[in-house]
Amino acid sequence: MNQVVEKALRGMALLKVSNIRHWTDRTFSFNCARPAGFRFRSGEFAMIGLMVDGKPLLRAYSIASPSWDDDLEFYSIKVEDGPLTSRLQHLQEGDEIVMRPKPVGTLVHDALIPGKRLFLFSTGTGIAPFASIIRDPETYEKFDHIVLTQTCRQVNELDYGHDLVARIRGDEMLSELVGDKLQHIATTTREESPAMGRMTDWIRDGRLAAATGGPLDPATDRVMICGSMAMLQEHKALCEGAGMSEGSNSEPGQFVIEKAFVD
Ligand code: A2P
Repeated sequence: MNQVVEKALRGMALLKVSNIRHWTDRTFSFNCARPAGFRFRSGEFAMIGLMVDGKPLLRAYSIASPSWDDDLEFYSIKVEDGPLTSRLQHLQEGDEIVMRPKPVGTLVHDALIPGKRLFLFSTGTGIAPFASIIRDPETYEKFDHIVLTQTCRQVNELDYGHDLVARIRGDEMLSELVGDKLQHIATTTREESPAMGRMTDWIRDGRLAAATGGPLDPATDRVMICGSMAMLQEHKALCEGAGMSEGSNSEPGQFVIEKAFVD
């Protein structure tokens, strides 16, 4: 390795890629072995990427696996002209990615005050941090009812989420922990499916309340939101309208938000 590359890689971890799955022509997931000593809190993100022209090209990616897992899982969008994802989508088993091993983020239990119901609202690849949260035992210790929602344009974009929940239910240890606490609501907006519409509309017109046992209640409900900027703003306004305040790592609150990765 030449000295320039060596210098660029200082402080970075090199991770070997496995289990690459292309879910749609716009999304894929892959795993990496967790480097020794790398710890994170479920729901956090890290900077990952590839070496391009001797320099690391990094983007923020939510870690989709839970903090206890030996593997790190990532769920990514493919953007045709995206500087990173146009390259990352061609990863092959055994290739290496780089990661800055400093996880951060607000979609973590530490940023929420205790409650009874936990709503995890996502669109598209915004489901990634919640794939981590819903496989973390702490979630089921802290909450009685967890509602994971994902809204996508097309039906096949929901496959990753359906597979994730099926894997949880099929896992002996996790399924015991999860019991009947986890509810999954998957909706589409541009293709016919059993459940249609944006979740923001479901909140406003009472469909979410009907499906989950009651409207958002600031006394007992906690919310995490991950998606596009427009989606975050709309959900945030709905939370605030319901009397909730935004939390952070230093000052926990009733809801937290984070932008899903875009490239
Ligand atoms: P829609 O098809 O009605 O725009 P995108 O790919 O544009 O990020 O959208 C992913 C999903 O998020 C789509 O189903 C889209 O619905 C939905 N969406 C887009 N903007 C919002 C918003 N402001 N609030 C809630 N859902 C949204």
